[in-house]
Formats: sequence, C-alpha cells, structure tokens
Amino acid sequence: MNLGNNERRMLKVMLSDSNRKWTLSELLEATGWDDQVHVAGAGKGLQEAGMVDIQESTSRLASLGEEGKRAVKEGLLESRLWDWIRNASEEQRNMGALMSSGFDRSETGPGIGILKGLGVEIASGNLIFSNGDEITKEIDRRADFINSLTNSPVELTVLDEDMTSHFSSRGGLLEFEEITTRAWQLTKSGKSVDESELIENQLIGELTPEMLQTDSWMGAEFKPFDVQAPAPTPVGGRRHPMQSLIERIRSVFLEMGFSEIDGDYVQSAGWNMDSLFIPQSHPARTMQDTFYLDRPSKVEVEDSYLDLWARVHEHGHDTGSRGWGGEFDKDESQRALLRTHTTVNTVRHIADNPSKPSRVFGIGRVFRQETIDRTHMPEFHQIEGIIHEPDANLPMLISTLKTFYAKMGYPDVRVRPAYFPYTEPSAEVDILWKGEWLELGGSGIFRPEVTEPLGTEWPVCAWGMGLERLAMLILGLDDIRQLYQPDLERLRKMPLL
Ligand code: PHE
Repeated sequence: MNLGNNERRMLKVMLSDSNRKWTLSELLEATGWDDQVHVAGAGKGLQEAGMVDIQESTSRLASLGEEGKRAVKEGLLESRLWDWIRNASEEQRNMGALMSSGFDRSETGPGIGILKGLGVEIASGNLIFSNGDEITKEIDRRADFINSLTNSPVELTVLDEDMTSHFSSRGGLLEFEEITTRAWQLTKSGKSVDESELIENQLIGELTPEMLQTDSWMGAEFKPFDVQAPAPTPVGGRRHPMQSLIERIRSVFLEMGFSEIDGDYVQSAGWNMDSLFIPQSHPARTMQDTFYLDRPSKVEVEDSYLDLWARVHEHGHDTGSRGWGGEFDKDESQRALLRTHTTVNTVRHIADNPSKPSRVFGIGRVFRQETIDRTHMPEFHQIEGIIHEPDANLPMLISTLKTFYAKMGYPDVRVRPAYFPYTEPSAEVDILWKGEWLELGGSGIFRPEVTEPLGTEWPVCAWGMGLERLAMLILGLDDIRQLYQPDLERLRKMPLL
C-alpha cells in the first residue's frame, strides 16, 4: 500500500471507530498532531486513495460588531432613551428636554426613529405612548438578544430570525461570517484495510555511511525537507552600528592619505579655546555650555603658550590683528574642562609639529551641556581634520570634504559662508539628503591669530563634522537617542554599515 506515514496514522485512528464521522478536533486529539495541516493533508491523500470521504458544510455565524459591543456595555440606544422617558415627569417628556438631556445629537435622530417604531408618538413636540408595558417588553427582548452574543459567535440557525433581521438592518450592531466545517469518514474500501498493515515506516532524516553500505535505506521513507518551516534567525555578535560607522569613516580618511590622531577628554580651557582665539568672554565658554571640572580643577599649560595667547588675545601680537582687547586671564586658561570639540586635538598637533606638513583626522567624543532631546545629547562625536602644508587653500578644503562625503555615499555637498572665531574664511558644510540640504559641520582656514602662536607659517584647512547626524541619516533614525539605547532588538535590525 502506497501510503505515507501520516496517511497510515490517520487511517489507523479512523479504523478504531470505523463508522464514525470524525471532526477536526477529534482527529487532532486521536492522532496527537498539533497542526491541522496534517489532518487536511493526510485526509486528502486518503480521499485520493478512495479510502475516505470528506464532507464539507458551511454555516453562517453572527457576532457583535463595534456598536453591538458598545450596546452590551452602555445599553441599547432604545433602552437608554426609554429609561430617560420613563423617569421624566409628564411636563418633561418632550423633544426639547430630550435634546438637552445629554444624549448625543447623532443619537437622538435615529433614536426617535426607533422609538416611533416601538409605538411612541410625537405630538407638538411631546412624546406620547399608551402601551408602555409592551414597549418595555420588546426592548428587553432586544437587549437579551444582543447580550446572548456577548461571548462567542452564534450559528444563525439557532438565533431568532426576526431579531436577526431587525438588527442586521441597523448599522454596526451585528457582523456575520461564514465558516466551513469538515468531517472525515471511512469509505468501504477504507474500512476494509487490514490494520496490521498500517505500520508507520521509520523516517530517515539523515543518511549515514552505514545505511548506504548495508542497503538498509532501500524501501525506507525519507523525511521531506520543509523549506518553509519557521526557524529562528541566528543572531551572532556584531559591531554596534556607531562603531562600524566610525571604522568606515576611518578607512575613508586613511584611503585619502590622512593619518589618525587622538587626544584626552580632559583639557585645559587654554587649548580647547584660547589657542583658537575664542575670547575669554565668549558665551559658549560659560558653565551652561561647557562642563568645567572640579577634579582636576586645573590643567597646567606651558608658560610659553600662555604668554603667546595673552599677547594675541590682548592686542594681536604680530599677527596683524588688534586682538580682543581687555586683560587675558592665565588662570582661566588653565581651568580643567571636558573638551567641547575635537579641534583641540588638531591645534595641539600643529603645535607639536609646526614645520612638518600633515594631513590628519580624528573621530572623538565631545561634551557640551545640552538638554537631551531628539537631536541633542550632552555627549556626541565629531569627525575632525586638518590639512597643514605650504599650499593649503580653500578649494583644497572644499574638494577634500566633497571627496570624503562622496566616498561615504553623499556626492552632493555644498558650503555656505559661516563664522567661527578661529577661521577666516569659514564655511558651513551641507549635504543633500532626499532633496534637502542638511547641515553637518563647520570648516575654514585657521586665522593667523591661531596659527602664529602655534609656530607655523603655513595655512591650515580645518573642519569638524557631526558624526551622529550622519549616522542618523545612514540608519534612517529620527531620534539621536536611538543610537545609544541598549535596545538589542532595534540594534540587531539596523543595517550593517
Ligand atoms: N569646532 C567647530 C564645532 O565644534 C567645527 C569647526 C572645526 C569649524 C574646524 C571650523 C574649523 O562646531
């Protein structure tokens, strides 16, 4: 007999009570299968072999719609109106009082229609009826009908026909669905099968060398592969998306001939700001914007630099500038802070290598006292870089940034005039994203007030870009916090960069 294991099992079960019409749940229980597709599949096979008859019947079920569920909770519209009418005094029983009694406008219209159908009349605005008891009875019958559907769908054949047709003409109260039920029954030929033949073959899931050598596989049944079977997606470790973005940026700059530098989070105000000719009275230097430290509260700065910055800030020294005027405070210069930008690393690099041409970049964390919201965090990263060489110039700066963003996948870059205390000219850098220009950072040529105290005679192209904004674009996020929440589910779904 050419039956598969499932067919054999189902046939054996059915032979245990060979005249019975089996329902789906009976077959599931008797076979021990947990999925009805096995019953459907084996039943079909047995039907094709002429051993089983399948009888299908359809039935219509009624259940409560949205309005129906509401009626169970709050009462049918006619019940609520009728309660109001019965509780109202004679003088109150009129349309005017009803309208102002708290019923929604959308209810009073249809409500009156329903009451009229029950025998309530309206005469010059008054609500009149003579058969109160009958109205109460009919309304109770309707409420009982609706309540009887509360728990589960009910077959139409057992429901009161008048009620069903009344409520189906009122929108949203009832819903109908059709279901098909099947029953399986053995045919004559099915009943004649000898039960002892129905041994389930051992299914071979995996062929072993022994099976091949001993021929034991011959005549055996092979377990089919189910390529549709749901299987868990294996999750292995992976880099955090921010880390892989940093790696990518790193390799782009390395490819462009840049070397990487880094520096400490804790810096002196002098290197973070004075060296960049940011006036000591600049608003960004206040406590609200900068994290000053208590421990250490001071970071020492070499006297030679303090002297140079003091002269440049006070009167321009010999940079051709008039400086900011006022008195330079060397203690202020040595206050400890968390770096507010990575430009502190590039100026330090120039100071340490004043006569060595260099192209360097760094990707690092910076700190500012920002209120956390969709686009701001008190810690974020900057992509910083400089070109320091005799012929450095503005077109070189712009083409370098264009090349960088093109390699990252954003070929449309534009620069706009901007202002920073330490560059001249200064430019804001935007990239085109879905038809919109997005600002990603600042750039420019360092002013002589910056470069001369550092000991160089060459121009310096400099830039500092936001990393998180770029990451949000690439990852399609609209909230910067999503980058750092330890939500493994979301992180797993982020694209590999
Ligand atoms: N340091 C600036 C910032 O934090 C960016 C910048 C760097 C601007 C270098 C000009 C030159 O926004």
